[in-house]
Amino acid sequence: MFLSISTVFAGSDIIVGVHIYRFDDTFMAGVRDIIKSNADGLGDCKIIVTDGKGSQPTQNDLIINSVKNGAKAQAINIVDVTAAPIVLQKLQKLGVPAVFFNREPDSADMPDEGWFYVGAMAEESGRLCGGMIADYFEKNPTSDLNRDGIIQYVLLMGERGHQDTIYRSEYSVRALQERGYRMELVAAETANWQRVQAQEKMSSWLNSYSNIEAVICNNDDMALGAIDALKAAGYFTEGRYIPVVGVDATAPAIEALKEGTLLGTVLNDAKNIGKATFQLSCLLAKGEEINQNNFDYTISNGRYVWIPYKKVTKDNYMDFER
Ligand code: GAL
Repeated sequence: MFLSISTVFAGSDIIVGVHIYRFDDTFMAGVRDIIKSNADGLGDCKIIVTDGKGSQPTQNDLIINSVKNGAKAQAINIVDVTAAPIVLQKLQKLGVPAVFFNREPDSADMPDEGWFYVGAMAEESGRLCGGMIADYFEKNPTSDLNRDGIIQYVLLMGERGHQDTIYRSEYSVRALQERGYRMELVAAETANWQRVQAQEKMSSWLNSYSNIEAVICNNDDMALGAIDALKAAGYFTEGRYIPVVGVDATAPAIEALKEGTLLGTVLNDAKNIGKATFQLSCLLAKGEEINQNNFDYTISNGRYVWIPYKKVTKDNYMDFER
């Protein structure tokens, strides 16, 4: 089998395997670039970077292959979180520790030792999304188009079973309810984080329903897909507007904020997720004890590195432009 491995050489011979669930994911492409630039910049560890192409069996082979090629620690953006315990058990037999990142294994299923997690608390991003929609309706009460006192919304969800899909969906709506809004779900579907899938779903909803008042999306690519569909249906001209929110604060999303189509997004901090993942896995590869002098982040409950989210709107997007 052909294994696509790209190696980035840095200053030393200590190797870390970096495994991304799929290279064509916009947000993860950003995290991957940050990991590479940290490896180039810090020079402590070389990295072997692989593309799981959305297949757990492929990623399993790539992980084992990188161990054979000398990787002393693994940074894993796992394709299927339910496979994490088995992957970890295999690595433990080989004496190789792992840092999972962005896709969070269920700790109840995992061995007690030999792993860390770097990521963001999904619940927080959901709350921030809901908060931005609530702010919007507070300022624009006439956006309740049918004046029934209820926000009719559609939900574009990420991959099923992903912590960000579950908690962003739940907490965005809860945050609105906690602000006193009554919410009615018009339609919800997964679009797997992808712009084209979201655009197709949103177009078909616009054909079927005339009462959509808000669009909540689990990430920016899907929010941009929804905006593509809304534009094609004549929105964002002549005062026709529906608030759309996403998560990630990718460069195209910031552009959409500027142009006034996207209402808001949430910074999913690729820079710090990438840096923390690289630092931690490199320290593990070197067999060094992790402490405040050599690691820039706080470790909670012995294994979690939480990177905070930040709300991004038209009022502060300038701080997040790259
Ligand atoms: C989320 C991110 C999505 C997608 C996903 C992949 O945190 O918001 O855009 O990249 O991770 O696991």
